[in-house]
Amino acid sequence: MDRLLAACNGQAFAASAPLLLIWAAVPARTRWRYGPAAPKLILLDAGHACENLYLACEFLGLGTCAIGAYLQELSDELLGLDGVSSTVVYMAPVGRPGR
Ligand SMILES: Cc1cc2nc3c(=O)[nH]c(=O)nc-3n(C[C@H](O)[C@H](O)[C@H](O)COP(=O)(O)O)c2cc1C
Repeated sequence: MDRLLAACNGQAFAASAPLLLIWAAVPARTRWRYGPAAPKLILLDAGHACENLYLACEFLGLGTCAIGAYLQELSDELLGLDGVSSTVVYMAPVGRPGR
């Protein structure tokens, strides 16, 4: 199985989309300010970003789908992230919706 498809946990519609956005976080950039609340705030932020992607896609007549069920280690590895100082938090494919 190709590495991207494996990282997407076998979700072919995501791995084969014309565009796949992968959001990654550098927790220290949030932790210095928000301390132990950082993980929560990073994920809320990613959620907001993805929601805006949904709105933009709707406007443009495109489609997207939040992807939270990716495989963490494979995704971090694919992007060359160590999973601690930086790590994948969200994905979203963009494409033309099927009829
Ligand atoms: C945090 C989060 C993670 C999600 N992860 C996945 C995922 O990995 N795979 C998937 O097919 N859908 C995923 N979804 C999408 C939803 O399960 C659902 O299919 C979608 O929001 C419904 O869209 P629709 O109204 O266009 O059918 C996720 C949604 C959210 C909010």
